Amino acid sequence: MSKPEIVICLGSSCSARGNERNLEMIENYLQNNGLQDSVDVDFNCSLCQGKCSEGPNIFVDGKLYNHVDEGVTREILMKILPVTK
Ligand code: FES
Repeated sequence: MSKPEIVICLGSSCSARGNERNLEMIENYLQNNGLQDSVDVDFNCSLCQGKCSEGPNIFVDGKLYNHVDEGVTREILMKILPVTK
């Protein structure tokens, strides 16, 4: 089974709108749950393709999530990397 891939847009707009905070949340979640080796986290700002107004944007296995806040980030992580504690 392949690892899930998270691509977080760190373009200036997405970063300012919340992806800096989302990135920190993802890193903390992976670390706190010992999942660092279970996911490929690709930080890519080359994905800024005119979707800034819908940001912050995060791709998970190729699916685009818009307006990602901390709640959505938590939902994404629980869905693709559920922990049972
Ligand atoms: S900065 Fe993320 S889509 Fe433009």
